[in-house]
Amino acid sequence: MARAIIIGTGSYLPERVLTNFDLEKKVDTSDEWIQTRTGISERRLAEDNIATSDLAVPAATAALDAAGITAAELDLIIVATVTPDRVFPATACLIQHQLEAENAAAFDLNAACSGFVYGLKVAEQFLLSGSYKNIMILGAETISKTVDWSDRNTCVLFGDGAGAAVVQAGDDNRRGIIDIRLYTDGSFADLLVMPAGGSRLPASHKTITEGLHHIKMKGNEIFKIAVRNLTESAQTILKDNGFTIEDVALFVPHQANSRIIQAVANALSLPLDKVYSIIHKYGNTSAASIPIALDEAARNGRLKRGDLVLLSAFGSGLAWAAALIRW
Ligand code: ACO
Repeated sequence: MARAIIIGTGSYLPERVLTNFDLEKKVDTSDEWIQTRTGISERRLAEDNIATSDLAVPAATAALDAAGITAAELDLIIVATVTPDRVFPATACLIQHQLEAENAAAFDLNAACSGFVYGLKVAEQFLLSGSYKNIMILGAETISKTVDWSDRNTCVLFGDGAGAAVVQAGDDNRRGIIDIRLYTDGSFADLLVMPAGGSRLPASHKTITEGLHHIKMKGNEIFKIAVRNLTESAQTILKDNGFTIEDVALFVPHQANSRIIQAVANALSLPLDKVYSIIHKYGNTSAASIPIALDEAARNGRLKRGDLVLLSAFGSGLAWAAALIRW
């Protein structure tokens, strides 16, 4: 049976670093609070003239190089983002043009922080049905552009970046996506939201003065749901595929808060040396966090051929997901 196999990854982070000490000068916070409550020390920010597609293109190029294919060989480009360059056209179209991927269809996918894993599932369906051979999935965000830099509840959490993966249909059953489970509970939609800018509240003087174009998050309500749902979805996907937690070589969770990651690892009885974390240096990069972590782990040898990788994503929607991949 054919499998969808990740044949190359890439990532790109903007150079500008914003430390917790820099944030101490902007809002009433401290390095000590941010580190102990979130695990974040610093994050990367895109310059004012840089948009999401500008971060995505170098990540995509690195993934193509790693995969050993050309942009012209791509059949589809899926961009997971909540910070598109513009509401339309899709950022994926801009990236397709920049890459000169003239044979690829391209669209954006919005599943917030879970977007990359949702994109992997979509790609898997196209590959297994035989419709397409090579698909690029990107998680790319410039979340810093949507943050209220006077709100200490949110501004300390987020960072910008992009990660990419090329997925190909292959016959090697020793590698590839084993299973992906997607979950949504829209009853919690108001816990993490950008209230204005859509058809519910189009941009107006009022929405701007009231700060409704920024991220609004009920963080501690999300925290408890995140720990429970990430744990349960990981347990379900492992059990349904005949694995135990001991079989997992690397756990790559969405990077929103190191306390969430540790609580999930504890609940799963997973030792922390099997958890891949980048939150200390990049903060929460939303849909980009998992592909950036995967790329880093692949490049620094932490992920090896044949390893069983467990991905866990969680974010606005609420939308969450679990994936099992034989690397
Ligand atoms: N510096 C100092 N104090 C702060 C800061 C800060 N930056 N931020 C909040 N506080 C204060 C609060 O005002 C509060 O003070 P009070 O007790 O006087 O009212 C106190 O710290 C505790 O606040 P909590 O919100 O209860 O802090 P908590 O420990 O829950 O941490 C956090 C907040 C980091 C947001 C955490 O709840 C969290 O990570 N939540 C989950 C986020 C998440 O997973 N989001 C989904 C993914 S993101 C996406 O989809 C885009």
